[in-house]
Amino acid sequence: MKKIVIAAVARNGVIGRSNGEMPWHSEKEFQHFKNTTLGFPIIMGRKTFESLGSPLKGRLNIVLTNNKELNNRYKDIITFDKLSDAYFFCEEKKYEKIFLIGGGSLFPQLINDADEMVISIMDFSAEGDIYFPKIDEKVWNIKTKDKRNGFEIIYYVRKEIK
Ligand SMILES: NC(=O)c1ccc[n+]([C@@H]2O[C@H](COP(=O)([O-])OP(=O)(O)OC[C@H]3O[C@@H](n4cnc5c(N)ncnc54)[C@H](OP(=O)(O)O)[C@@H]3O)[C@@H](O)[C@H]2O)c1
Repeated sequence: MKKIVIAAVARNGVIGRSNGEMPWHSEKEFQHFKNTTLGFPIIMGRKTFESLGSPLKGRLNIVLTNNKELNNRYKDIITFDKLSDAYFFCEEKKYEKIFLIGGGSLFPQLINDADEMVISIMDFSAEGDIYFPKIDEKVWNIKTKDKRNGFEIIYYVRKEIK
């Protein structure tokens, strides 16, 4: 099962605001996110889930939280209080791939776990206080780049350990 980080990152590294707001709205980038993740589980932190407003359709929404009540409050989500339990659940269900969608508090861990990353670099800097971690060139190879209107998608694969 492939673990794939997916994120949209402003030129200055910003991905969000701690008040839950998304610093920009790009319909095209969101469409790319949708096309890429549709049909596969998405794993996210509780604050990212709340910033979405409702579960994303056509995908299994897995939310990490220590709040056991969350499962009762929303239909159509599964919660875990441990990332490893969420991975185990998806392994058992034999998903070919799962997407790790953030947010800020989780990305440092998620990029350690990921086999691949799909990162949209937006054509602008943004105001915010939540950042994507630095991508270590010693760990990641760029497989392809895909220039779109308003952003560029960079596909990373983890370097093999020799
Ligand atoms: N640009 C992008 O691609 C992108 C992607 C995703 C999110 N974002 C932005 O990022 C922001 C949200 O990020 P954030 O850092 O504030 O919050 P977050 O990482 O989405 O969620 C944090 C919460 O997740 C739960 N959590 C995190 N790690 C956990 C673990 N190991 N075990 C169990 N629960 C865990 C905790 O929930 P409880 O407090 O309930 O226990 C924690 O308070 C928003 O602004 C969002 O728009 C941007």
